[in-house]
Amino acid sequence: MPQLTVVSRSGEEKTVEVAEGLTVMEAIRDNGFDELLALCGGCCSCATCHVHIDPAFADKLPAMSEDEDDLLDSSDHRDATSRLSCQLPFTAELDGLKVRIAEED
Ligand code: FES
Repeated sequence: MPQLTVVSRSGEEKTVEVAEGLTVMEAIRDNGFDELLALCGGCCSCATCHVHIDPAFADKLPAMSEDEDDLLDSSDHRDATSRLSCQLPFTAELDGLKVRIAEED
């Protein structure tokens, strides 16, 4: 199975295997990272699943929707690597991806 490395706010790293069909948000949440709240459950309406993505994978990610863009604008911690993890289906192509959970807003 493809692997995802998650970096917590305190810098702790954990590499997990991700089953097909999950989003990056679900993979993070299901592996015990409680600090990723994902309050809306993946409906793209809360921005509490904000992560920073390894720029090397930027080209492999789906384009950002207007809704995602607007929600990310509500974060004080947005930068060029910001994405909402619920909007990122984890595919085999993303094997080795590293994401860092964004600071809390
Ligand atoms: S879980 Fe709410 S926007 Fe991603």
